[in-house]
Amino acid sequence: PFYKTLFGLSELEEKIRSHFGLSQVVVVAGDSDSSQQTKRELGRAGCQVLNRVMRPGDVIAVTGGTTIAQVSGQLVASSPLKTNWFVPARGGLGESLDYQANTIASTMAKRTGAHYRLLHVPDHLGEEAFASLMQEPNIREIVDVIRSARIVIHGIGDAMVMARRRRLEQEVIEAMLAEGALAEAFGFYFDRNGEVVHKMQTVGLRLEDIVKTEVVVGVAGGKSKGEAIAAVMRFGHNDVLVTDEAAALEIAALI
Ligand code: G3H
Repeated sequence: PFYKTLFGLSELEEKIRSHFGLSQVVVVAGDSDSSQQTKRELGRAGCQVLNRVMRPGDVIAVTGGTTIAQVSGQLVASSPLKTNWFVPARGGLGESLDYQANTIASTMAKRTGAHYRLLHVPDHLGEEAFASLMQEPNIREIVDVIRSARIVIHGIGDAMVMARRRRLEQEVIEAMLAEGALAEAFGFYFDRNGEVVHKMQTVGLRLEDIVKTEVVVGVAGGKSKGEAIAAVMRFGHNDVLVTDEAAALEIAALI
């Protein structure tokens, strides 16, 4: 569209796309840190990408957060997705109900006539509880479905913002900071080079599953997230990035 050419958004898209070797980058105008309208646009662009990549029979794993919630609230399918399944990418990470992956997966399924499966795993599990939970046949079954996802759609956050929002212990936060944690996605924390420096203990997608997933779509915007988004792109397993102008300018300045 005209505004893209006017403000050079397509040049930004191409610069980021080629630098990180992505298949597609979408940049919407504005800054979602300060504009709810931009955040909605980000969500809408996320919906367009999802509609483009989804095929019959797909399992789509989704993460939590306010941005992916914007995608879920606007998702519409041209005809019911009767053979598709939406599932949470990982178990409890300490988000409030509206922004949990379970809630978002069920909203997406209901809005598109697809199916969903939920993963009921408490937040902040201890080692022993975690191990015994993983023995539960019901949990194993849904975890197998999650790990079979062809598409993952996820948010990206600033590491410290997410660590506080999820009430991680101060000791853990300090250890992560010392390791250079800058970004968070899927409950994994990354340093500026895209190396994982901390993992939240929960079930669902492991790093090796994300690496193998056919289509990984990141949706994140706002000037404050520019560095975090660049870090996750350096992790190197995204195919599509949907972002906004303010974040894209920050990213472009780093590359
Ligand atoms: O993983 C990252 C966070 O879920 C992003 O959350 O979209 O609310 O900033 P947010």
